[in-house]
Amino acid sequence: TENVCFQTINLGGIKDYIPEIKRCRRLMLIGCGTSYHSAIATRQLLEELTELPVMVELASDFLDRTTPVFRDDVCFFISQSGETADTLMALRYCKERGALIVGITNTVGSSICRESHCGVHINAGPEIGVASTKAYTSQFISLVMFALVMSEDRISLRQRRTEIIEGLKNLQEQIKAVLMLDGKVQELAKDLYQQKSLLIMGRGFNFATCLEGALKVKELTYMHSEGIMAGELKHGPLALIDDQMPVLMIVMRDPVYIKCMNALQQVTSREGRPILICEEGDEETSSMASKVLQVPRTVDCLQGILTVIPMQLLSYHIAMQRGCNVDCPRNLAKSVTVE
Ligand code: AGP
Repeated sequence: TENVCFQTINLGGIKDYIPEIKRCRRLMLIGCGTSYHSAIATRQLLEELTELPVMVELASDFLDRTTPVFRDDVCFFISQSGETADTLMALRYCKERGALIVGITNTVGSSICRESHCGVHINAGPEIGVASTKAYTSQFISLVMFALVMSEDRISLRQRRTEIIEGLKNLQEQIKAVLMLDGKVQELAKDLYQQKSLLIMGRGFNFATCLEGALKVKELTYMHSEGIMAGELKHGPLALIDDQMPVLMIVMRDPVYIKCMNALQQVTSREGRPILICEEGDEETSSMASKVLQVPRTVDCLQGILTVIPMQLLSYHIAMQRGCNVDCPRNLAKSVTVE
């Protein structure tokens, strides 16, 4: 029983609604920018552990489409500030249609908090800089914890759950190890800061890191950057590749490893010289790259927490070398309260 106790995840703010959530017919995760990326990052695990259809939506596009929403839908609104206008409008839209509203926010007492039926405070602490960093990783972890709660009584998933819970416990030490890469990342930034563009490729559990990394680079450095689903490479982006185009790829030893290696070969055979983020000790994969950042290995579904940190550091160092203000990027506000 000690073991069972140890494996109980308690999300006080939604506990009473779990039976209702378990009866729903689909989950919808809605947000903007980085908060949307945390939904992309956890969608696969939510599908796996809940076996429900999971829709991930940008709040603005969701509203543009006047998407059908039903009483038996559960809609998650993910927002650091809890005040983002598009997300709040989408919340009201879903509430009017009778869906259950779950807020995933970092700001107690915010509009999204107050207008939700229930929710999770991600407790990341105040986030001051315009670029979201710790809120992203905390949203990610909160959604993983929700997936764990939803699968609590599933015997067939016990082993998977244990593996994830163990992974969560080790994250703190592993994050420290990733932060030790800072010097190496700074060196990398020196090679990149005068470039016009940076393509960031990956797939599966690490695709969200590509989108989020590219957003961080754009936001902080004003350089063009694009997150590319590696599976889409041959459907267009491959045309961009030559010996000049900066490319960064995330290749972990997870279920999409072989597919990522294929993409890597596609790039190298066109004279591309990708920078790699791969697993600690994976010398075979590392040997394919011009530059490598090795991060500790964790469970596949948590790996995105560890792969996004070098991207956050990289955008910071590129920005510093370009002389940009990393706290207040031009044209942006921390809280986007207009539609
Ligand atoms: C992140 O670095 C951005 N500043 C931005 O994309 C942000 O995540 C988005 O505006 C949503 O904000 P929210 O989480 O406060 O709703």
